[in-house]
Amino acid sequence: MFEQAMGRSAASAQQYLQELHDRFKGDTSGKVADYIPQLAKVPQDAFAIAACTVQGEVVAVGDADLTFTLQSASKPFTYGLALDMLGREAVRAKVGVEPTGEAFNSIVELEEGVHRPYNPMINAGAIAVCALLCESVGLDEAIARGEAMAEGYLGRPSTFDPEVLASELVTGHRNRAIAHLLRHFHIMGEDIDSALTLYYRQCSIEVTARDLASMGATLANRGVHPTTGARAIGSAYVRDILTLMFTCGLYDSAGRWAYTVGLPAKSGVSGCVVGVVPGRMGLAVYSPRLDSHGHSVRALQVFNAWSEDWNLSVFE
Ligand code: DON
Repeated sequence: MFEQAMGRSAASAQQYLQELHDRFKGDTSGKVADYIPQLAKVPQDAFAIAACTVQGEVVAVGDADLTFTLQSASKPFTYGLALDMLGREAVRAKVGVEPTGEAFNSIVELEEGVHRPYNPMINAGAIAVCALLCESVGLDEAIARGEAMAEGYLGRPSTFDPEVLASELVTGHRNRAIAHLLRHFHIMGEDIDSALTLYYRQCSIEVTARDLASMGATLANRGVHPTTGARAIGSAYVRDILTLMFTCGLYDSAGRWAYTVGLPAKSGVSGCVVGVVPGRMGLAVYSPRLDSHGHSVRALQVFNAWSEDWNLSVFE
């Protein structure tokens, strides 16, 4: 099946992943995110690489069964949920599709005139999407839909880390400030607590690198999970998600990423990056030490090498 997706056997793919792991495991530069107290407690040197084909074959090396939280890697999936539930027009009224060239937690990033957040991959946009979901169906139902959505992509029941959720709810003053700004401009209503609770709940969904690769593979497979065959998202919206991952998924590094790696992808401050090779595979790397832009140091190295060695850019 790797044969079908990549023209190489699973054994040679596994061997290649091991080479990548060996090549970059010695790099212990970067710093684990500690602005969320719970995240500072993770095993700092953990390192996993995984790939899942659209036929459902998985290869993985390193700490591929270690659990971590999705953090911002949840944003494309939550955006997809909103599109699926409410349609493009309702979602586009609240959040745009332009890259910002700014950090993920930028406070001033709202579109001139309409005051929409620029895109759903930055915190402001993701919070606006969560507010929209809560205002449409209520917090409890939105959480339930978020869980069902995650199950579709994971192919198993979804779990979340309550301590990470609580930690962010207590310490996330910057996101609360962003929510108040959105409230000021009528992008969201009064219920800031519900919007932030859903946002953090999505960020605290627990996955392994194997899981994250299968989430990417589900997007690569037009929204259908490769092994369960269940649809996680309407196929009409997969293009929306992948386009925004491509242009905005790595915030102020998005241009460099598009230029060097050339794949739709999304990073999270837990140290994960999920990448999508449309029609072929989902890729995931987990390594918690981050660079100054908030991206996993080793994940960037791995994706750069992987894309070059396997000609993965969507423009190849
Ligand atoms: O909003 C936050 O601070 C986090 N829960 C998510 C941020 C994040 O992962 C940014 N990613 N690169």
